[in-house]
Amino acid sequence: MKKNKISKNWINKQKRDIYVRKSKIEGYRSRAVYKLQEINDKFKIIKNGMSIVDLGAAPGSWSQFVSRSFKNTKIVSIDLKEIEEIENTFQIKGDFNDELQQKKIIDYFGNKIDVVLSDMAVNTTGNKNVDSLVTGELSIEALNFSVNTLKKKGSFVSKIFMGSSFNEIVEIAKKNFKEAHIFKPPASRKDSKENFIICRNLR
Ligand SMILES: C[S@@+](CC[C@H](N)C(=O)[O-])C[C@H]1O[C@@H](n2cnc3c(N)ncnc32)[C@H](O)[C@@H]1O
Repeated sequence: MKKNKISKNWINKQKRDIYVRKSKIEGYRSRAVYKLQEINDKFKIIKNGMSIVDLGAAPGSWSQFVSRSFKNTKIVSIDLKEIEEIENTFQIKGDFNDELQQKKIIDYFGNKIDVVLSDMAVNTTGNKNVDSLVTGELSIEALNFSVNTLKKKGSFVSKIFMGSSFNEIVEIAKKNFKEAHIFKPPASRKDSKENFIICRNLR
């Protein structure tokens, strides 16, 4: 399919999408917020007063949701792109794969993180296999970071795609966490291979 035909289809899809409309009404920067809300409704991972890391946070709807809905939370949001300011949030513009950026997060929380959220995904190259492979590598990096920095009862949530590194991620998750669930929230588009892994309680 030609590039401008793809973007026309995308624009039409966005117009019809109830989650897009709802996010505009509620003042969220992205429809992605409803994926996190649905995950949290089911698994109850985020609570008041927690220390939360939001990886791949731009434009910022996940951090907005945490900041608005839970009192006294501390949030660190990181993205390659600039994120507009959000209350209670320390923002880092940088590459999560860079050790220096990871150190900034650890320095801020001192290894006492309650929840690591990752919605990181690469900008689409047009090749779905390449995209899912690189996004899989980002999930593995986020998972390893969580294992090293979460509190014992901490939780990890990450976007993962069916295919390429799916089995590897589930295997590492089960080895390190007592619970690992795969969940596709209703807000995740049906025609996408996107799923989420929700892990709780380190072994
Ligand atoms: C689907 S968007 C996240 C949407 C976000 N959860 C929200 O609710 O607004 C994925 C983000 O991952 C970011 N990303 C991709 N690779 C990254 C990396 N290596 N380090 C930090 N952010 C990254 C992209 O820049 C993009 O903004």
